[in-house]
Amino acid sequence: MQNTLKHSLTRSGKLLRSALTGIAAAAALAATSQAQKFEGLALTPPMGWNSWNTFESNINEQLVIDTAEEMKANGMLDAGYQYIVIDDTWSLRERDADGNLVADPEKFPSGIKALADKLHAMGFKFGIYGDAGKTTCAGYPGSQGHEYQDARTFAAWGVDYLKYDWCATGTRDAKEAYTTMRDALHAAGRPIVFSICEWGDNKPWEWAQDIGHLWRISGDIYDCWDCEFKWSRGFKAILDGYHDAKPSVVGRDGLGQYAGPGGWNDADMLEVGNPGLTLAESRSHFTLWAMISSPLMAGNDMRVATPEIIEILTNKEIIALNQDPDGVAGWRIFTAPDKYEIWVKPLSDGDWAVTVLNSSEETQDVTVEWHRMEQTFPDEYSIRDLWAGKDLGDTHQPLKATIASHDVLALRLSKK
Ligand code: GLA
Repeated sequence: MQNTLKHSLTRSGKLLRSALTGIAAAAALAATSQAQKFEGLALTPPMGWNSWNTFESNINEQLVIDTAEEMKANGMLDAGYQYIVIDDTWSLRERDADGNLVADPEKFPSGIKALADKLHAMGFKFGIYGDAGKTTCAGYPGSQGHEYQDARTFAAWGVDYLKYDWCATGTRDAKEAYTTMRDALHAAGRPIVFSICEWGDNKPWEWAQDIGHLWRISGDIYDCWDCEFKWSRGFKAILDGYHDAKPSVVGRDGLGQYAGPGGWNDADMLEVGNPGLTLAESRSHFTLWAMISSPLMAGNDMRVATPEIIEILTNKEIIALNQDPDGVAGWRIFTAPDKYEIWVKPLSDGDWAVTVLNSSEETQDVTVEWHRMEQTFPDEYSIRDLWAGKDLGDTHQPLKATIASHDVLALRLSKK
């Protein structure tokens, strides 16, 4: 009897111990899984296309497929634009009886899974939009309280990229809300780039590195130079915010110090090719987004894009600045107020990218005095003009250039 009791006590003790070990292991696993975003997904800034800037709620399956076909034909896919992202308004206004998100059958008659499959077969990755609040910004169902369910839906559909907005979040804590969705995505098990779209309200650059792969730094972009209205701003206004938001603490001004492989400042989707920008402004916008290592998500109508616009978006030498493996974001080192400014970005092979932006309303004759930037460029470099695609001598003597209003001179310096 005693033996039996002892035996069963020992046994139950063992069981208890092994149960406890199991619980501890599960807890450790949960703790590990809670502490992770999917690593290795955005080692360079994501590139792709998003429907919002041009189409807002006028999206549908055919538009997305036509866009993908255009991007395959016009060189965008080959240039690296791999994510095709549908933004707000893709779903029905209500969840189904089981609480699942449902695609609008009029806009997406084949369903989202079929669309993702089709894009995958064409060589693209597929992205979708959600919101951390009760509703999206356009009033469709948000994921608050449905995070794990929605993450499972996205994973089952073959989603590769989630842009996650911040409307109707009430008093939610941003870090906590984005962490919940990160954990839900992780639990769903499909590697998904997590794009934090919280507009910079809660300084995501200070906490988002462990949570997402990119984080918006401002309200919405608009296709103008520096206009500002409601929550929208022109690209120059966003750029000024990027520069001014935080004083230099590690020798790099602005928000650039927070970016690097796996986590990027998102200066918002591109307006390149949209009606409110001149060709010069499209070129500067694109160059500066490359310089600050912002994701390059095109936002124009690919079906009517002119050859000049595709030439801008597919300029390999500019894209190479953005996709440099070291991922050091550029900074502004010189400003001649209302005339021009100089941005620099170090590259992994020891080269430097240098961009001179004419911020004035007139054409400017600019002289770049290399010796005045001696601390940054102590050596002698040969100079390549990345838009003209030609070599321009070296830094032994000042560089003289004429730059049209709102246009840029983009250079790559290579040590001689
Ligand atoms: C917010 C985002 C935009 C876009 C819209 C959709 O304004 O910042 O990028 O996604 O919502 O409603």
